This record gives sequence, C-alpha cells and structure tokens, in this order.
Amino acid sequence: MTRSSLPPLIAPSILSADLARLGDDVAAVIAAGADWVHFDVMDNHYVPNLTFGPAICEALRRFGITATIDVHLMIEPVDALAALFARAGADIITFHPEATRHVDRSLQAIRDAGCKCGLVFNPATPLDALTHVLDKVDVVLLMSVNPGFGGQSFLPSALAKLAQARALLDRHMAETGRQVRLEIDGGVKIDNIGQIAAAGADTFVAGSAIFGAGDYTSTIAAMREQIGV
Ligand code: DX5
Ligand code: ZN
Repeated sequence: MTRSSLPPLIAPSILSADLARLGDDVAAVIAAGADWVHFDVMDNHYVPNLTFGPAICEALRRFGITATIDVHLMIEPVDALAALFARAGADIITFHPEATRHVDRSLQAIRDAGCKCGLVFNPATPLDALTHVLDKVDVVLLMSVNPGFGGQSFLPSALAKLAQARALLDRHMAETGRQVRLEIDGGVKIDNIGQIAAAGADTFVAGSAIFGAGDYTSTIAAMREQIGV
C-alpha cells in the first residue's frame, strides 16, 4: 500500500454540526484547523435522508465562511442542483455516477460552472466509471459507509479499494502532472485515520468524530498526528 504524495486535508462534514448554529460551528471548526467544509447533500431519493440545499451554502458564504466548500451530492438527478450549488459558492462538487445519465456531461457542466469536480463511489460500486473521465476529475471520493447517515462504522473493504484507487491516481498523476485528490467519507475516526492514510487517502471527511468531540482543535490535531505527515 502506498501513501498519497499530496498533503493531507481534513474535511469536517456539516451533517454532524450544530445545525441550529451552523455558521458559528463551521467558523469554529475552520479556526480549529480544518481545511475543507464537507457538505453532505441528501434528497431522500438517492439516499433515505434529506439535508441541505444551495441556500445553506449561500448563507455560509454571506456569514463569512471563505474556506473551501466541498459539496457531496447524494441526489438524483445531479445537473440542475449542481449548477445551483456552483452559483451558491461551492468550490468542489462531487456526485455518484449512478445518479446521472451522462457522467462525462455532468462533470463537464460542473467544470464549466467554475468548480472542481469529482465522482463518489459507494462501497459496492467499482471504480470503472473513472476509466474514460480520469482527465476530468479533481477528486475521487470513496464511501466507507453506505451513504445517508453520519455516525456509522467504517467498512474495512474501503482499505483495499483505497489502495486500488491510489495506484490508479498515482499512474495518472505521473503521466499527466495533474493533481487528483483521493477523499474518504464515512466512519473516519482518530483510531483508524492512520490506517486509512497508509492505504492511500489524502483527504478525510469526518462528521461525528469532529463535531461530536468537545474540543475541535485537539481532535483535528490528533487526526493529523495519526496521519503522520
Ligand atoms: C454518509 C455521509 C457521512 C458523513 C460522515 O452519507 O457522507 O459519511 O459525511 O459521517 P461520519 O464521519 O459521522 O461517519
Ligand atoms: Zn459526504
């Protein structure tokens, strides 16, 4: 297993934030050392839960959040809402390939809207959809839980899939000079993030492990220490 050559990024998922004080809680977690704000968008169609729309993204920007907003669309279809999130201030928009009829067109539309883009792979979904669009993605997001809820346990099968994706991305990055981030989402904790980094992830979504902790600064610092770079 090889590690990523890219510096590690911590991306707390607002799914587990204090939603009654979202602006303050996001500002606090960024001040505590987080890098990205991970936005878990759910439509109660593609996944059995309902969360945030573009208005919340816009509200955080108006509130003064300037950190990278990493929007994970667990919705079907993808294109219309992806365009609204781009307009609402998203920096990165990822979606599940099963949730759109035309993966290449959906990726291109997100890029044309000025955002970085990526594909998200559920635990049972093979990486095949990457084959013909690797040159278009900026992020590959692997789910280490079945999507829909925070606070679930990490699925160990994600480690082998991370190693497979790591090899694919290292080859692509060496051939093209491009940078593609390998992000992991679901059940990431202080006690497993080291193993996850060793398997090749470089961007770590953590919702309950961070927002459920009393002290964001020490939790994020402990995660970075476990990652070891
Ligand atoms: C699932 C969500 C969760 C969330 C992270 O659809 O995407 O994976 O972001 O939740 P935790 O870190 O609490 O497992
Ligand atoms: Zn997510």
